[in-house]
Amino acid sequence: MQDKRRPGFPKLAIVGKGAIGGLIGFKCHQLDYDYQHLVKTQQQQLFRVTDISGVTHSLMANTSVITQPDQFDLLILPVKAYQVMPVLEQLRSFIQSHHIIMLLHNGMGTIEQVRKLLPNNPLIAATTSYGAFKPDTNTLIETGLGQTHLGWLGKVDTGLEQAIEPILSALLPPSYWHQDISLALWKKLAINAVINPLTAIHNLKNGELADKKHTVSISNICDEIAEVMGALGYTVASAELIENVNQVTTDTANNYSSMHQDLKFKRQTEIQFINGYVTSKAAELNIEVPHNHRLVEKIELLQ
Ligand code: PAF
Repeated sequence: MQDKRRPGFPKLAIVGKGAIGGLIGFKCHQLDYDYQHLVKTQQQQLFRVTDISGVTHSLMANTSVITQPDQFDLLILPVKAYQVMPVLEQLRSFIQSHHIIMLLHNGMGTIEQVRKLLPNNPLIAATTSYGAFKPDTNTLIETGLGQTHLGWLGKVDTGLEQAIEPILSALLPPSYWHQDISLALWKKLAINAVINPLTAIHNLKNGELADKKHTVSISNICDEIAEVMGALGYTVASAELIENVNQVTTDTANNYSSMHQDLKFKRQTEIQFINGYVTSKAAELNIEVPHNHRLVEKIELLQ
């Protein structure tokens, strides 16, 4: 068996201790990985995690202040899309060109930004459907098992792939590695582009979108995204995007979407990286996407 503490085994740094970041830290703890959470202020409190089977675990999570991180090889960013660049700029002086950066957030548009700041770093984009909820800073509840899709961006050394993929695959399984992760990111984007703004605007739980009165809006949004995806070379039927949305609203029926919660707690939303990304790609391609436009406008007004 591989010794996870031996010199050479990658050191993981997880930015923040939000719902998904906290869950990844907990999995690292269980797998005996060498990890640290990068946090704003040092914390020495017990972290209580209730896993999906209802068992509560208490652990001292490894944390470092983000301005003084311990050494790391792999930097995981389970943060809001709009936090990616500020965080990387803050960590810039600690990031060397061989460090692996992994993006894990809703929405799209950060890859282009990260590439400008860190043109040579190996980059991974990922998306997960795991669910977790943090009722307070030191409590985490795993609310749903999901699956994780990951992919390297650009050309990467096969030795590096072989070393890193099993480590990341074990965190939020089952994990699927894609040659071209963009298709998986677009499919997840379509799910968020429907569920997040509609639940936020109408103040609904995800499951309430199954009501017939939302059917037309859901298909209008998906039709527009399928058209943009088609123009980018990702042939997908709008019906498939709608089916994915319906699956997620069923699986997460009792949850409030992240955008619903962002509006409720008066936080910035990710609308510019979700429907906003659709509208900006559509504009480049001269495609009209009025339904996505309207959702951006409505959320901007409400936030
Ligand atoms: O942003 C969210 O809330 C989640 O990505 C999803 C899949 C829409 C479920 O609530």
